[in-house]
Amino acid sequence: MYKIEIISNDTEQTLKLGCAFASLLNKGDIIVLTGELGSGKTKFVEGVLKNFGLEDEISSPTFTIINEYTKNDINIYHFDAYRLEDSDEFYAIGGEEYFEKGICLIEWGELISDVLPKDYIHININKDETNENKRIFCFEINDDSKYIDVLNKLKEDLN
Ligand SMILES: Nc1ncnc2c1ncn2[C@@H]1O[C@H](COP(=O)(O)OP(=O)(O)O)[C@@H](O)[C@H]1O
Ligand SMILES: [Mg+2]
Repeated sequence: MYKIEIISNDTEQTLKLGCAFASLLNKGDIIVLTGELGSGKTKFVEGVLKNFGLEDEISSPTFTIINEYTKNDINIYHFDAYRLEDSDEFYAIGGEEYFEKGICLIEWGELISDVLPKDYIHININKDETNENKRIFCFEINDDSKYIDVLNKLKEDLN
């Protein structure tokens, strides 16, 4: 496991973090987001969309399985795996076809880990007990991940 931790002290910093992260992504990249309700998964995705000038279009995937966004020739797919009955339902909606068509951000992706490619970026967000606006973002990848440069560059860019 290779991981980096980044602290966000408020909503604005999380938007900036998502935006900086997104600037390093390419078509075919897969990001899994976990963290309790209200931890900032959707805020982070809003930051990602901001990088593409799409922040005003964010809708929470709470009532849909997939929200799709397109800017120029880049597609962004925002999934909520929590809405899925099981992995079969993911196949039924043609889920794995999205992986190569754009950037996929999957809230609660570990619920469908059997359908995910082995290599993806897992972002786990933790709240802080003593400060209601503080979040600890933990970015995790495998040691042999193709995303090592993305995480190193992110760390560099935020310094
Ligand atoms: N540092 C922070 N990062 C992200 N969100 C924060 C932060 N501090 C406070 N918040 C608030 O917490 C809430 C996070 O909500 P949301 O992104 O919808 O969470 P989730 O999708 O994980 O349920 C928002 O109301 C946001 O303004
Ligand atoms: Mg959410």
